[in-house]
Amino acid sequence: MEQPETRRKWDDRWREHQGPGQPARVLAENAHLLPASGEALDLACGLGGNALLLARRGLRVRAWDLSGVAVERLRAQARAEGLPLEAEERDVCARPPPPGAFDVIVVAHFLERHLAPALVAALRPGGLLYFETYTQEALSPSGPGRPEWRLAPGELLELFRPLRPVVYREEGLMGDLREGWRDKALLVAVKDPARRGGPLPEGWREEPWRRA
Ligand SMILES: C[S@@+](CC[C@H](N)C(=O)[O-])C[C@H]1O[C@@H](n2cnc3c(N)ncnc32)[C@H](O)[C@@H]1O
Repeated sequence: MEQPETRRKWDDRWREHQGPGQPARVLAENAHLLPASGEALDLACGLGGNALLLARRGLRVRAWDLSGVAVERLRAQARAEGLPLEAEERDVCARPPPPGAFDVIVVAHFLERHLAPALVAALRPGGLLYFETYTQEALSPSGPGRPEWRLAPGELLELFRPLRPVVYREEGLMGDLREGWRDKALLVAVKDPARRGGPLPEGWREEPWRRA
């Protein structure tokens, strides 16, 4: 699809959508892994539910999307909350993030496989990738109708093989299908995982199992 056509399609969808964006599960449930400060990117942000969560937690946030409607809505929400968030209308396929620019990158419901190496390169050492999107193995009709826009089984881990997985979930069609989290896969992964968290709580040690 040509980009002007894609932009029009998403502009129309976001015009119809009410309320601010909501964060993806991969970020909402794993926000405790975020650094206390740093630069974050919400790539193909839509209404920017992820960008808003990141900025509310004190990160300096860039949010990029092709849709001017989405970007304008996100800017207004960030202004209303006084958040450190810069939203930009940007074709991320033509202009991917530069190397070494971000401590955190979030990509939700946007699958451009050729961008994976650029995303890995764009993370700083110790940086975190949060990724979530639809899988080909699915129970519900939600998400893209074209199989190439959905992840094959295990593909998300393969795409970001240079990173170390921290959280990974993909249930596919296994087990009791009335339960669980279906239709999508999620990954939190870290680049060069030297310990990058905050100070340890009092009385805690990093390797308590190590005998002197
Ligand atoms: C399914 S929405 C996901 C939005 C958001 N990440 C979320 O999870 O709510 C896909 C988004 O990708 C954006 N998009 C599509 N192609 C793009 C491109 N080449 N560059 C930047 N954004 C793009 C669309 O405008 C749309 O907002």
